[in-house]
Amino acid sequence: MRMVDIIAKKRDGLELSSEEIQFLVSGYTDGSIPDYQMSAWAMAVLLRGMTPRETGDLTLAMAGSGEQLDLSSLKGIKVDKHSTGGVGDKTTLVVAPLVAAAGIPVAKMSGRGLGHSGGTIDKLESFAGFQVERTREQFLQQVREIGVSVIGQSGNLTPADKKLYALRDVTATVEAVPLIASSIMSKKIAAGADAILLDVKVGKGAFMKTLEQAETLASAMVQIGTQVGRRTVAVISDMNQPLGFAVGNALEVKEAIDTLAGRGPKDLTELALAIGAHMLVLGELVADVEEGRKRLEEIMDSGKAVEKLAQMIEAQGGNKEDVYNPDRLPKASLTAEVKASQDGYISAIDAETVGHASVVLGAGRLTKEMPIDLAVGIVLAKKRGDQVRKGDVLATVHANDEILLKQAVEELKGAYTYDSESLIDQPLIYKIIT
Ligand code: URA
Repeated sequence: MRMVDIIAKKRDGLELSSEEIQFLVSGYTDGSIPDYQMSAWAMAVLLRGMTPRETGDLTLAMAGSGEQLDLSSLKGIKVDKHSTGGVGDKTTLVVAPLVAAAGIPVAKMSGRGLGHSGGTIDKLESFAGFQVERTREQFLQQVREIGVSVIGQSGNLTPADKKLYALRDVTATVEAVPLIASSIMSKKIAAGADAILLDVKVGKGAFMKTLEQAETLASAMVQIGTQVGRRTVAVISDMNQPLGFAVGNALEVKEAIDTLAGRGPKDLTELALAIGAHMLVLGELVADVEEGRKRLEEIMDSGKAVEKLAQMIEAQGGNKEDVYNPDRLPKASLTAEVKASQDGYISAIDAETVGHASVVLGAGRLTKEMPIDLAVGIVLAKKRGDQVRKGDVLATVHANDEILLKQAVEELKGAYTYDSESLIDQPLIYKIIT
């Protein structure tokens, strides 16, 4: 088999065989296929697409390119959750302990943030002493004992995807839907998921800017899941404004704890309950999402969800007192308010701008190596649809540097759009794809 023939076949719009796909993934992983040939192939895929069968084969070949986690020693259906990334998206911090408290085993690997999207692992490090690197045995043992563990992504998982994603980034081929879908799904499969819940974000602060793009990606991923025997459900949710009020690591952790206690922002609570309820259905704990939702609401009200988070923090080296008293979490030294420049209704809060302002403060990173400041960020006081008067506080900025504080305040002012009339609210969840 020759890579040049595989490239030519895809260039001409023909379907590749399973053997050809396995050959190119193995060859790229072991270095026998060079970057320039893989780049040509990725561009041919971007222009010609892939059939569902090809996409399924690519996913399995990438999932098998490195270490695969065996979760079979854990009882029950292991349901994983993935978000395509957004601003203020702390849903995993809520959903993981919440569904674990309901009886779904959660053995989850999460990522760090890059660009204007935050990462769950960074947020969890707001708990002093919290260990994100665990041995396989520690990880599994913790899930057996308390039902939940969230750790950083293993370096040996899906090496083919790691190389291909970096290559796509510099060859203008990130956008190819079969490549995005197989990239995400291969990581979930290698991480041992039996069933997968996808939160596909859509809007200005998301990777997918239009509903049509989000639906195409969500459908491709659900189709892969079905094809490879992992039940998959995708929730398409709004990212035209930040999720919840808090953006920034420790600030988001505090909001997640409030949400677990049933005192969280409406949108975050709603999304966490919807995602959690679908996970309970996928895990065959309940018959339908209504029953799932009811069960999760009861768990929030009983205090068991907060308790489950506290157990997880303690088991991974943190202090559970930080969960019961979040004022102990890292705190910034300076604050400033952003005020409304006119009377009216807020018609938009540009999530990308808010995300960027939080990066300016140091809450996120622009390169993988950049250190982050866990204490800084933004807490919104108003959301889209709210009525304001000139001078009302729209947000509070938390910083550890005067200059960055001023810069972030200036940037945030540009995130707001006003309208003279109240508008029809945009939905939080656009669609569920099964
Ligand atoms: N996220 C991924 O993990 N892979 C992609 O290709 C795009 C987004």
